[in-house]
Amino acid sequence: MRSTVVLCLAASLASVSGQTFQRLGTCPTLGCVLPPDQQDFLPGQQFDIRFEVHAPKNGSEAFNGGVPDEKFTATIQKDNGRTRSIADFFNLKEPSLEKWTFSWYEDLFAQDAKTPSVVNVASKIYRRVALYEPGTYKVTLNYFSGKTTTAEWVVRPIANKKKAKNVIFFIGDGMTTNMITAARLLAHKTINGKYQTLLALDKFPVLGHQMTHSIDSFITDSANSASALYSGHKSTVNAMGVYADSSPDLFDDPKVETVVELLVRIWGSAWGAVSTAFLADATPIALTAHTRSRYAYGPLIEQALNGLGNYSWTKTNGPDAYFGGGAEQFLAGSGSYLGKDYYAEFANKNYSISLNKTALLAAPKDKRALGVFCRSNLPVWLERNIFKDNLQKLSNDPAGGKGAATDLPGLKEMTLKAIDVLHTRGGNKGFFLMSEAASIDKQMHVLDYDRALGDLLELDDTVQATIEKLKSLGILDETLIVVSADHGHGFDVFGNADTKYAAAQGDDRKKRNAVGVYQNSGLSQYTVPQEGVSYGTGANFPVNWDPRYVIAAGLGANPDHRESYGVGKSGPRVPATTIPGKSSDDLYVNPTDRPNGFVVNGTLPTNEAQGVHSLTDVPVFATGPCQETFGGVYSNIDVFYKIANCLGLAHGTNKTVCDDGKSNGGNGKYNDGHGGHY
Ligand SMILES: *[C@@H]1O[C@H](CO)[C@@H](O)[C@H](O)[C@H]1NC(C)=O
Ligand SMILES: *[C@@H]1O[C@H](CO)[C@@H](O)[C@H](O)[C@H]1NC(C)=O
Ligand SMILES: *[C@@H]1O[C@H](CO)[C@@H](O)[C@H](O)[C@H]1NC(C)=O
Ligand SMILES: *[C@@H]1O[C@H](CO)[C@@H](O)[C@H](O)[C@H]1NC(C)=O
Ligand SMILES: *[C@@H]1O[C@H](CO)[C@@H](O)[C@H](O)[C@H]1NC(C)=O
Ligand SMILES: *[C@@H]1O[C@H](CO)[C@@H](O)[C@H](O)[C@H]1NC(C)=O
Ligand SMILES: [Zn+2]
Repeated sequence: MRSTVVLCLAASLASVSGQTFQRLGTCPTLGCVLPPDQQDFLPGQQFDIRFEVHAPKNGSEAFNGGVPDEKFTATIQKDNGRTRSIADFFNLKEPSLEKWTFSWYEDLFAQDAKTPSVVNVASKIYRRVALYEPGTYKVTLNYFSGKTTTAEWVVRPIANKKKAKNVIFFIGDGMTTNMITAARLLAHKTINGKYQTLLALDKFPVLGHQMTHSIDSFITDSANSASALYSGHKSTVNAMGVYADSSPDLFDDPKVETVVELLVRIWGSAWGAVSTAFLADATPIALTAHTRSRYAYGPLIEQALNGLGNYSWTKTNGPDAYFGGGAEQFLAGSGSYLGKDYYAEFANKNYSISLNKTALLAAPKDKRALGVFCRSNLPVWLERNIFKDNLQKLSNDPAGGKGAATDLPGLKEMTLKAIDVLHTRGGNKGFFLMSEAASIDKQMHVLDYDRALGDLLELDDTVQATIEKLKSLGILDETLIVVSADHGHGFDVFGNADTKYAAAQGDDRKKRNAVGVYQNSGLSQYTVPQEGVSYGTGANFPVNWDPRYVIAAGLGANPDHRESYGVGKSGPRVPATTIPGKSSDDLYVNPTDRPNGFVVNGTLPTNEAQGVHSLTDVPVFATGPCQETFGGVYSNIDVFYKIANCLGLAHGTNKTVCDDGKSNGGNGKYNDGHGGHY
């Protein structure tokens, strides 16, 4: 096996012409197998298989006059078993041939010159298949008389025994260890180097590390990283619940079944999603979304409620609890699917509908519950709790009016309510809840570190309240709690900054001298009550968000901006803007942001208005049944396999299933030789 893999790689490298752009990320040769080489599967998990044969008409790969082979064939072989055609193996009718054309830029020069390379494609897709027996499967595509592309798939030996009744999966979007460290410094007091209190996360018994790379790029976005966490299959930036194909249709790509689709199909459990983002945003919607484009917001809310009308697929029958922002996809109009009123669509399926916190808290526990509290994302914790006047400036009424949404729940209220509904509705069948602190990411993007850390502390406070809630319901011991992230940002703190001194200096270089490093970084002032200032936000938050000596923090990747440190009191930050008369793709320092600060020239392409995601591994905290399987360093897809193992989602044959929960290749210590999937 190994030698074949190496040979394939050598052959493919020769035909990879560009790094910035790829013809199709998972397909370096002219024959594409989707799922591609090195993918892992849960026994019984449903997926589609697509084959594509590419005939580039022009560009560096031009082949066969741009005429694709329409007579390609494909086979599958398990371990050393018989080689069979795909249709025969899965007992399917041979699907009909599809054809399309796409174009791509081979590099930045081609993009500047507007000379795309054109590719003609012949393809077939085999829909809704599954592999039940653990083992290694070799899939071979034969095309252009003599060319082959091979994919090795591993069906992991995972238990079908359920060990946890419930799973609560918290995602701090974009959250890294560096941010957790900074949040702890802001909210928890030290005396002579010793913390007097700790974060809820600090008390978790097990900590692991996951690698977040996409299938075809080392920096990920929240769509395919969520998809990897929920399905065990990596994907491409902007794609969810599918392997991205090259066709123009955003909904025809080969799909993979997600954790909630499996859970509903196999155990009939309840499930829910809670987010401080709009509900159609990548992290909440990826639980049910199957698309090449995360931006298809309207159709994705339809998919969440009614499943995939376009294809036969597992139906979750809709979430049991669904709380967040994003009224645009629910109000009848241009943002909703086919212009329909999705409040009415949900209400017709017997959901209670809450448009504010008061209604949410009063919603019945035994009915399915939809809560949409504003348009766009929920205002962040700092606006909801400290700078409340800023809420009035917004036009985000979830009922569609011009006014502001002011009776807003936080992540904690939404999560605790979801637990009540899911516990009631799941009964003996248990539940799965995903709860996302979305604006850790969103505020890191705009370099608004205080707002990002406020939302991180809200997540931590929510985790603590969740543990207490599960205890009071008597279900803590049967609930696995996982807290992780989907990717990071290159954020860190490197000292403090004296905001008073900085503001008093006229010169940019002198302003920078307000930063105190090493010895001069001193101690956190956020935990010191200040006369005349009462934030009253409780034990898990700073008592003073606006001390004179603040953290000096930054991102490894940023647009041009101005820095003055300290909290922005008028609302979330906009660091860079376009300049009237110049290109809309050219971003400069926003003249109204931190006017007192000094200019920091960006490190990013000049068309980026915000910071971007970074490479870092992200932490995985676990407590509850199966917690021990979460230690170590592993891929983001392993988070899915660990959860699937704990929930008994594998539906394979009993003879090959092992039940120790440790031989799934996800833990270095127990690596069984199928380790190639990292
Ligand atoms: C390929 O052909 C298209 C027209 O079909 C043209 O627009 C494009 O510039 C060509 N690309 C290259 C790389 O020659
Ligand atoms: C079904 O497919 C059509 C055509 O691609 C698309 O416009 C529509 O949004 C899809 N619907 C859903 C719910 O995915
Ligand atoms: C909604 O509830 C009513 C009354 O309890 C019931 O008759 C109806 O079947 C339910 N509809 C759906 C879609 O569940
Ligand atoms: C909250 O929603 C309820 C029910 O929709 C409504 O009656 C009430 O006026 C709302 N309260 C606020 C403060 O908007
Ligand atoms: C930022 O870049 C500009 C040129 O684009 C340069 O004139 C200026 O000195 C730079 N500022 C700093 C603080 O490096
Ligand atoms: C495994 O065995 C158990 C008990 O014999 C049976 O109930 C179950 O359906 C089997 N699972 C599969 C996937 O065959
Ligand atoms: Zn992001």
